Amino acid sequence: MFANKKIVLGICGGIAAYKAADIASWLKKNGADVHCVMTANAAKFISPLVLQALTANPVAVDEFVTGPGWGIVHIALADKADALVIVPATANVIGKIAAGIADDALTSAVLAATCPLFMAPAMNTNMYRNPAVQHNLATLREHGWHILPPASGHLACGAVGEGKLPDVTVIEEALQKLLLPRQDLAGKKVLVTAGPTSEPIDPVRYITNRSSGKMGYAVAAVARERGAEVVLVSGAHLATPAGVRLIKSGSAVEMREAVISEYDTCDIVVMAAAVADYRVAAPADRKIKKTDDNDELTLHLVKNPDILRELGEKKTHQLLVGFAAETNDLDAYATAKLQKKNADMLVGNDVSRAGAGFDVDTNIITIFQPGGIKTEYPLCSKQQAAEYILDAVVEALRGR
Ligand code: PMT
Repeated sequence: MFANKKIVLGICGGIAAYKAADIASWLKKNGADVHCVMTANAAKFISPLVLQALTANPVAVDEFVTGPGWGIVHIALADKADALVIVPATANVIGKIAAGIADDALTSAVLAATCPLFMAPAMNTNMYRNPAVQHNLATLREHGWHILPPASGHLACGAVGEGKLPDVTVIEEALQKLLLPRQDLAGKKVLVTAGPTSEPIDPVRYITNRSSGKMGYAVAAVARERGAEVVLVSGAHLATPAGVRLIKSGSAVEMREAVISEYDTCDIVVMAAAVADYRVAAPADRKIKKTDDNDELTLHLVKNPDILRELGEKKTHQLLVGFAAETNDLDAYATAKLQKKNADMLVGNDVSRAGAGFDVDTNIITIFQPGGIKTEYPLCSKQQAAEYILDAVVEALRGR
């Protein structure tokens, strides 16, 4: 199942450390190349020798010890990983990772890793509920960590409550999902718009808005991970997600041109961009100079093309997803836009709520669909919001 997958398995110093042996063994049996990295405290709970025997690989505890072909331990571990998995994750290590501290082989490897990251926290109930730990976990979620919530039950300390490491089978199921992501968009072409448009005033100035592009880029990245061919149209200043084709656009008119040129061959369009509704009618071709005799400057604006509305009118087979950023009356505005633009789905975000909307890593979305269907989602990372949106898209395509 996991042939060709290299997994770095991090183990922290908690009583549940011994269960990491089961996870290492299961990964290995399923074809993964498993490399364990333990904290010094973890090595007091379970011998590195056990993990070495189960994985047939050396185990890193001390970052200054080298093995054959290891180079610098934490970099070698981070570079080789297709996924970095921590079972169990203790409050201490969670705090260090959230703060960017790298003071041993495990936390240094985490800091250098660019692969998917997963952890299963396990600790005493009060420690788990402590606001500092909850804050750190929220930070890690925002940074893209996949975090498996602990189970409830009898804990080693005698307490009964949340904090128990989930059953090994539950962890295995979560890892399977992480390591073998769904390919439910394979064979589909997805077009995503993201970020602001910029409407020139003169060669040095333009009108824009607060969109960073993060929401649309997350949709593009997740659609690609789920197997789609993805074209992203954007003028945002973000790194293009791996495997995604970027068409750079500046103004709404440029964005429209790019979108229309790809539209016929698309199966799904997600318009996450914050497109300016108006542009300067005749941008100056030279820098507009301030004059002593004039305290006012009037810009004459004209309406931009409504790209989503045009797509709605031209729609043949495409599934059309629009967005609505509102500060009030989200339901009414989003429902009206869904209808007016002939979209199949409208993702509403109330940008007046903390953690939602422009230039943050999280969002709070509500998906509106024809027939008065409305689904609300909790505050989550934009990656997770993208998963929710694409889940709804896949579901809608299934119903066609
Ligand atoms: O980029 P981030 O910082 O991550 O922020 C994300 C976001 C808040 C920009 C995003 O989640 C979002 O809500 N995007 C839509 C922004 C918006 O204000 O949309 P709107 O209500 O103006 O437009 C409704 C829909 O029509 C949108 O899908 C928009 O792309 C589209 N539209 C709008 C105007 C226009 N001229 N052409 C369009 O196609």
